[in-house]
Amino acid sequence: MSKVVRKAVVPAAGLGTRFLPATKATPKEMLPVVDKPAIQYVVEEAVAAGLEDVLFITGRSKRPLEDHFDRNFELEEALERKGDDERLVLVTEPTELARIHYVRQGDPLGLGHAVLVAENHVGDEPFAVLLGDDLIDPRDPILPRMMQVRDQHGGSVICLMEVPAESISLYGCAAVEVTGEDDVVLVTDLVEKPEVAQAPSSYAVIGRYLLDPAVFDVLRNTAPGRGGEIQLTDALRVLATMPAEAGGGVRGVVFGGRRYDTGDRLSYLQANIMLAAEREDLGPDLRAWLREYVANLS
Ligand code: G1P
Repeated sequence: MSKVVRKAVVPAAGLGTRFLPATKATPKEMLPVVDKPAIQYVVEEAVAAGLEDVLFITGRSKRPLEDHFDRNFELEEALERKGDDERLVLVTEPTELARIHYVRQGDPLGLGHAVLVAENHVGDEPFAVLLGDDLIDPRDPILPRMMQVRDQHGGSVICLMEVPAESISLYGCAAVEVTGEDDVVLVTDLVEKPEVAQAPSSYAVIGRYLLDPAVFDVLRNTAPGRGGEIQLTDALRVLATMPAEAGGGVRGVVFGGRRYDTGDRLSYLQANIMLAAEREDLGPDLRAWLREYVANLS
Protein backbone atom coordinates (compact mmCIF):
# COMPACT_ATOMS: atom_id res chain seq x y z
CA MET A 1 0.00 0.00 0.00
CA SER A 2 1.35 3.39 -0.98
CA LYS A 3 1.87 5.57 2.07
CA VAL A 4 2.04 8.78 0.12
CA VAL A 5 -1.01 11.04 0.22
CA ARG A 6 -1.78 12.00 -3.38
CA LYS A 7 -5.47 12.78 -3.49
CA ALA A 8 -7.59 15.49 -1.95
CA VAL A 9 -11.30 15.18 -1.35
CA VAL A 10 -13.29 18.39 -1.04
CA PRO A 11 -16.88 18.00 0.14
CA ALA A 12 -18.98 20.70 -1.52
CA ALA A 13 -22.51 19.41 -1.47
CA GLY A 14 -23.90 21.59 1.33
CA LEU A 15 -26.87 23.85 0.68
CA GLY A 16 -25.30 26.94 2.20
CA THR A 17 -28.51 27.90 3.96
CA ARG A 18 -26.68 30.33 6.26
CA PHE A 19 -26.08 32.59 3.28
CA LEU A 20 -29.53 32.69 1.74
CA PRO A 21 -30.60 34.36 -0.45
CA ALA A 22 -27.05 34.73 -1.89
CA THR A 23 -26.81 30.95 -2.18
CA LYS A 24 -30.20 30.37 -3.76
CA ALA A 25 -28.69 29.97 -7.24
CA THR A 26 -24.96 30.20 -6.41
CA PRO A 27 -23.05 27.50 -4.51
CA LYS A 28 -21.69 28.84 -1.24
CA GLU A 29 -18.24 27.64 -2.30
CA MET A 30 -18.38 30.22 -5.09
CA LEU A 31 -18.90 33.22 -2.81
CA PRO A 32 -15.88 35.47 -3.26
CA VAL A 33 -13.35 35.99 -0.52
CA VAL A 34 -11.98 39.36 -1.62
CA ASP A 35 -11.90 38.54 -5.36
CA LYS A 36 -11.55 34.75 -5.57
CA PRO A 37 -14.17 32.10 -4.88
CA ALA A 38 -13.59 30.57 -1.44
CA ILE A 39 -13.13 27.14 -2.99
CA GLN A 40 -10.19 28.23 -5.14
CA TYR A 41 -8.13 28.99 -2.02
CA VAL A 42 -8.78 25.44 -0.87
CA VAL A 43 -7.72 23.86 -4.16
CA GLU A 44 -4.61 26.07 -4.21
CA GLU A 45 -3.75 24.87 -0.70
CA ALA A 46 -4.09 21.23 -1.74
CA VAL A 47 -1.93 21.76 -4.82
CA ALA A 48 0.72 23.64 -2.84
CA ALA A 49 0.97 20.53 -0.62
CA GLY A 50 1.51 18.33 -3.69
CA LEU A 51 -2.07 17.06 -3.99
CA GLU A 52 -2.84 17.53 -7.65
CA ASP A 53 -5.73 15.10 -7.80
CA VAL A 54 -8.79 16.77 -6.37
CA LEU A 55 -12.20 15.16 -6.04
CA PHE A 56 -15.16 17.40 -5.33
CA ILE A 57 -18.18 15.82 -3.71
CA THR A 58 -20.98 17.91 -5.13
CA GLY A 59 -24.73 17.95 -5.30
CA ARG A 60 -27.47 19.47 -7.36
CA SER A 61 -27.00 23.09 -8.41
CA LYS A 62 -23.19 23.01 -8.17
CA ARG A 63 -22.65 23.64 -11.91
CA PRO A 64 -20.98 27.04 -11.37
CA LEU A 65 -18.29 25.29 -9.37
CA GLU A 66 -17.50 22.96 -12.28
CA ASP A 67 -17.58 25.89 -14.69
CA HIS A 68 -15.10 27.81 -12.56
CA PHE A 69 -12.46 25.10 -12.92
CA ASP A 70 -13.19 24.64 -16.64
CA ARG A 71 -12.22 26.71 -19.67
CA ASN A 72 -14.35 29.68 -20.69
CA PHE A 73 -13.34 30.20 -24.31
CA GLU A 74 -15.67 33.12 -24.96
CA LEU A 75 -14.24 35.10 -22.04
CA GLU A 76 -10.67 34.08 -22.88
CA GLU A 77 -11.08 35.26 -26.49
CA ALA A 78 -12.59 38.55 -25.39
CA LEU A 79 -9.68 39.19 -23.02
CA GLU A 80 -7.16 38.15 -25.70
CA ARG A 81 -8.71 40.58 -28.17
CA LYS A 82 -8.34 43.36 -25.62
CA GLY A 83 -4.78 42.32 -24.86
CA ASP A 84 -5.71 42.04 -21.19
CA ASP A 85 -3.10 39.44 -20.27
CA GLU A 86 -3.36 40.02 -16.56
CA ARG A 87 -7.03 39.05 -16.42
CA LEU A 88 -6.52 36.27 -18.93
CA VAL A 89 -4.15 34.64 -16.44
CA LEU A 90 -6.77 34.96 -13.70
CA VAL A 91 -9.34 33.24 -15.90
CA THR A 92 -7.14 30.35 -17.05
CA GLU A 93 -5.36 29.72 -13.71
CA PRO A 94 -8.16 27.73 -12.06
CA THR A 95 -8.37 25.40 -15.07
CA GLU A 96 -4.70 24.50 -14.84
CA LEU A 97 -4.40 24.09 -11.10
CA ALA A 98 -5.13 20.39 -10.65
CA ARG A 99 -6.73 17.29 -12.11
CA ILE A 100 -10.23 17.85 -10.88
CA HIS A 101 -12.92 15.20 -10.62
CA TYR A 102 -16.51 15.34 -9.51
CA VAL A 103 -18.87 12.90 -7.96
CA ARG A 104 -22.32 13.64 -6.62
CA GLN A 105 -23.30 12.77 -3.10
CA GLY A 106 -26.91 11.95 -3.93
CA ASP A 107 -28.59 11.90 -0.54
CA PRO A 108 -27.18 14.60 1.75
CA LEU A 109 -26.56 12.31 4.72
CA GLY A 110 -23.70 14.20 6.33
CA LEU A 111 -19.95 14.81 6.08
CA GLY A 112 -19.09 11.18 6.87
CA HIS A 113 -21.34 10.06 4.04
CA ALA A 114 -19.77 12.59 1.65
CA VAL A 115 -16.34 11.11 2.43
CA LEU A 116 -17.65 7.60 1.86
CA VAL A 117 -18.82 8.64 -1.61
CA ALA A 118 -15.13 9.27 -2.43
CA GLU A 119 -14.17 5.62 -1.84
CA ASN A 120 -14.22 4.50 -5.46
CA HIS A 121 -12.00 7.34 -6.58
CA VAL A 122 -9.61 7.19 -3.64
CA GLY A 123 -9.14 3.42 -3.48
CA ASP A 124 -6.86 1.85 -0.92
CA GLU A 125 -4.59 4.77 -0.15
CA PRO A 126 -4.42 7.54 2.43
CA PHE A 127 -6.05 10.78 1.32
CA ALA A 128 -6.69 14.33 2.44
CA VAL A 129 -10.05 15.94 3.15
CA LEU A 130 -10.29 19.72 2.99
CA LEU A 131 -13.44 21.52 4.10
CA GLY A 132 -14.23 24.69 2.22
CA ASP A 133 -15.47 26.67 5.23
CA ASP A 134 -11.99 26.71 6.72
CA LEU A 135 -9.57 28.89 4.90
CA ILE A 136 -5.94 28.40 5.92
CA ASP A 137 -3.68 31.35 5.17
CA PRO A 138 -1.27 30.28 2.38
CA ARG A 139 1.56 31.75 4.48
CA ASP A 140 0.86 29.21 7.26
CA PRO A 141 0.46 25.87 5.46
CA ILE A 142 -0.47 22.94 7.72
CA LEU A 143 -0.89 20.00 5.33
CA PRO A 144 2.88 19.42 4.93
CA ARG A 145 3.29 19.07 8.70
CA MET A 146 0.30 16.73 8.85
CA MET A 147 1.89 14.63 6.10
CA GLN A 148 5.14 14.38 8.09
CA VAL A 149 3.22 13.13 11.11
CA ARG A 150 1.36 10.58 8.97
CA ASP A 151 4.69 9.40 7.45
CA GLN A 152 6.10 8.93 10.92
CA HIS A 153 3.17 7.23 12.64
CA GLY A 154 0.72 6.05 9.98
CA GLY A 155 -2.98 6.11 10.87
CA SER A 156 -4.96 9.31 10.44
CA VAL A 157 -4.00 12.87 11.25
CA ILE A 158 -6.37 15.71 12.04
CA CYS A 159 -5.82 19.41 12.48
CA LEU A 160 -6.67 20.91 15.87
CA MET A 161 -6.86 24.48 17.07
CA GLU A 162 -7.40 25.78 20.58
CA VAL A 163 -10.57 27.84 20.72
CA PRO A 164 -12.26 29.80 23.51
CA ALA A 165 -14.46 27.51 25.66
CA GLU A 166 -17.71 29.11 24.48
CA SER A 167 -16.94 28.35 20.81
CA ILE A 168 -16.25 24.64 21.19
CA SER A 169 -19.85 23.64 20.46
CA LEU A 170 -19.36 24.81 16.84
CA TYR A 171 -16.75 22.12 16.22
CA GLY A 172 -15.71 18.54 16.65
CA CYS A 173 -13.73 18.38 19.88
CA ALA A 174 -10.85 16.01 20.70
CA ALA A 175 -9.75 14.40 23.95
CA VAL A 176 -5.97 14.26 23.72
CA GLU A 177 -2.77 13.05 25.34
CA VAL A 178 0.51 14.89 24.94
CA THR A 179 3.32 13.30 22.92
CA GLY A 180 7.04 14.02 22.81
CA GLU A 181 6.39 16.65 20.14
CA ASP A 182 5.01 20.07 21.07
CA ASP A 183 2.64 20.42 18.14
CA VAL A 184 1.41 16.79 18.05
CA VAL A 185 -1.13 15.14 20.32
CA LEU A 186 -2.54 11.64 20.45
CA VAL A 187 -6.30 11.73 19.99
CA THR A 188 -8.04 9.36 22.39
CA ASP A 189 -11.65 10.36 21.82
CA LEU A 190 -13.78 12.83 19.87
CA VAL A 191 -17.21 14.44 20.23
CA GLU A 192 -19.06 16.29 17.49
CA LYS A 193 -20.17 19.76 18.63
CA PRO A 194 -20.38 19.10 22.39
CA GLU A 195 -22.11 21.36 24.89
CA VAL A 196 -19.49 23.54 26.59
CA ALA A 197 -19.80 21.57 29.84
CA GLN A 198 -19.29 18.23 28.08
CA ALA A 199 -16.28 19.24 25.97
CA PRO A 200 -13.25 17.06 26.77
CA SER A 201 -10.80 19.85 25.85
CA SER A 202 -10.53 23.19 24.09
CA TYR A 203 -9.10 21.53 20.97
CA ALA A 204 -11.43 22.08 18.03
CA VAL A 205 -11.21 20.01 14.86
CA ILE A 206 -10.40 22.24 11.89
CA GLY A 207 -11.42 21.12 8.41
CA ARG A 208 -8.18 19.41 7.33
CA TYR A 209 -7.82 15.66 7.66
CA LEU A 210 -5.41 13.00 6.43
CA LEU A 211 -7.33 9.77 6.54
CA ASP A 212 -6.26 6.19 6.40
CA PRO A 213 -8.41 4.22 3.91
CA ALA A 214 -9.59 2.15 6.90
CA VAL A 215 -12.01 5.05 7.42
CA PHE A 216 -14.24 3.74 4.62
CA ASP A 217 -15.14 0.50 6.39
CA VAL A 218 -15.70 2.41 9.60
CA LEU A 219 -17.96 4.94 7.86
CA ARG A 220 -20.03 2.17 6.33
CA ASN A 221 -20.80 1.05 9.86
CA THR A 222 -21.28 4.48 11.38
CA ALA A 223 -24.85 5.21 12.41
CA PRO A 224 -26.27 8.72 12.04
CA GLY A 225 -25.07 10.87 14.94
CA ARG A 226 -25.49 14.52 15.77
CA GLY A 227 -28.20 16.18 13.68
CA GLY A 228 -29.19 12.76 12.28
CA GLU A 229 -26.13 12.91 10.00
CA ILE A 230 -23.31 10.42 9.44
CA GLN A 231 -20.48 12.27 11.11
CA LEU A 232 -16.83 12.02 10.13
CA THR A 233 -16.02 12.80 13.75
CA ASP A 234 -17.79 9.59 14.87
CA ALA A 235 -15.75 7.52 12.41
CA LEU A 236 -12.52 9.13 13.64
CA ARG A 237 -13.55 8.26 17.15
CA VAL A 238 -13.60 4.58 16.16
CA LEU A 239 -10.30 4.88 14.26
CA ALA A 240 -8.73 6.35 17.40
CA THR A 241 -9.38 3.10 19.27
CA MET A 242 -8.34 0.72 16.48
CA PRO A 243 -4.89 -0.91 16.36
CA ALA A 244 -2.27 0.49 14.00
CA GLU A 245 -2.18 -2.78 12.02
CA ALA A 246 -5.82 -2.22 11.08
CA GLY A 247 -5.21 1.37 9.96
CA GLY A 248 -6.19 2.83 13.32
CA GLY A 249 -4.61 5.56 15.40
CA VAL A 250 -5.42 9.27 15.19
CA ARG A 251 -3.00 12.07 15.88
CA GLY A 252 -3.70 15.76 15.97
CA VAL A 253 -1.42 18.50 14.72
CA VAL A 254 -2.02 21.69 16.66
CA PHE A 255 -2.33 24.59 14.26
CA GLY A 256 -1.18 27.97 15.46
CA GLY A 257 -1.35 29.87 12.19
CA ARG A 258 -3.87 32.12 10.52
CA ARG A 259 -7.21 30.56 9.71
CA TYR A 260 -10.33 32.23 8.47
CA ASP A 261 -13.83 30.89 8.79
CA THR A 262 -16.05 31.51 5.79
CA GLY A 263 -18.85 29.36 7.19
CA ASP A 264 -21.10 31.98 8.72
CA ARG A 265 -21.91 35.53 7.83
CA LEU A 266 -19.96 37.38 10.50
CA SER A 267 -16.80 35.28 10.15
CA TYR A 268 -17.12 35.50 6.38
CA LEU A 269 -17.13 39.30 6.55
CA GLN A 270 -14.18 39.24 8.94
CA ALA A 271 -12.26 36.88 6.62
CA ASN A 272 -12.79 39.25 3.70
CA ILE A 273 -11.62 42.26 5.69
CA MET A 274 -8.60 40.54 7.23
CA LEU A 275 -7.37 39.10 3.95
CA ALA A 276 -7.96 42.28 1.97
CA ALA A 277 -6.31 44.42 4.67
CA GLU A 278 -3.13 42.39 4.30
CA ARG A 279 -2.98 42.48 0.53
CA GLU A 280 -0.50 44.75 -1.17
CA ASP A 281 -2.94 46.06 -3.75
CA LEU A 282 -5.97 46.72 -1.56
CA GLY A 283 -4.47 46.77 1.94
CA PRO A 284 -3.12 50.31 2.30
CA ASP A 285 -6.33 52.00 1.13
CA LEU A 286 -8.58 49.61 3.04
CA ARG A 287 -6.63 50.01 6.29
CA ALA A 288 -6.68 53.79 6.05
CA TRP A 289 -10.41 53.78 5.36
CA LEU A 290 -11.08 51.24 8.12
CA ARG A 291 -9.30 53.38 10.73
CA GLU A 292 -11.36 56.39 9.83
CA TYR A 293 -14.57 54.41 9.61
CA VAL A 294 -14.08 52.76 13.00
CA ALA A 295 -13.10 56.04 14.63
CA ASN A 296 -16.37 57.56 13.50
CA LEU A 297 -18.56 54.63 14.50
CA SER A 298 -20.92 55.55 17.26
C1 G1P B 1 -17.47 20.07 10.31
C2 G1P B 1 -17.14 18.90 11.21
C3 G1P B 1 -16.61 19.41 12.56
C4 G1P B 1 -15.45 20.33 12.34
C5 G1P B 1 -15.82 21.48 11.37
C6 G1P B 1 -14.58 22.28 11.02
O1 G1P B 1 -18.59 20.74 10.84
O2 G1P B 1 -18.26 18.08 11.38
O3 G1P B 1 -16.22 18.34 13.36
O4 G1P B 1 -15.01 20.87 13.57
O5 G1P B 1 -16.38 20.96 10.16
O6 G1P B 1 -14.91 23.39 10.23
P1 G1P B 1 -19.45 21.84 10.02
O7 G1P B 1 -18.80 23.14 10.32
O8 G1P B 1 -19.36 21.45 8.58
O9 G1P B 1 -20.82 21.74 10.58
